Amino acid sequence: MRTVLVLNGPNLGRLGSREPDVYGSANLDDLRALLTAATPDDVTVDLRQTDDEAELIHWLYEAVDTGTPVVLNPAAFTHYSYALRDAAALVTKAGIPLVEVHISNPHARETFRHTSVVSAVATGVIAGFGFDSYRLAVDYIVRLG
Ligand code: DQA
Repeated sequence: MRTVLVLNGPNLGRLGSREPDVYGSANLDDLRALLTAATPDDVTVDLRQTDDEAELIHWLYEAVDTGTPVVLNPAAFTHYSYALRDAAALVTKAGIPLVEVHISNPHARETFRHTSVVSAVATGVIAGFGFDSYRLAVDYIVRLG
């Protein structure tokens, strides 16, 4: 059994009711169901969400310690958390893939969203495809084997 950690940062627990014009009307349970249905039976999707920067960082340590690939939506931490960036770098420097994802396309939004402090240490970035951003990221990781 392989596991993919799908980690979500602040305010993403409110998906479904939060700015549906930007993020759609589906929630994290819907995302979990979508990803589980889209992955092979021998892959476990471990989807988590926190509003707490420290908790998110500790989940990245867990990924390093267990060698588990990561799909990360850092949410607003994307734009300013050097602490999260440093923790993400621990993952990729350990040779473990970490794909940064966004539901919306931050580059088409406010200027402060155009900067990601995480992207430079991520394996790659997928943004702007709604929940399909996660699906594409998980597909990539599954195909790595
Ligand atoms: C987001 C984009 C961020 O700018 C924003 O702060 C979020 C969600 C996205 O998935 O589109 O919370 O990461």
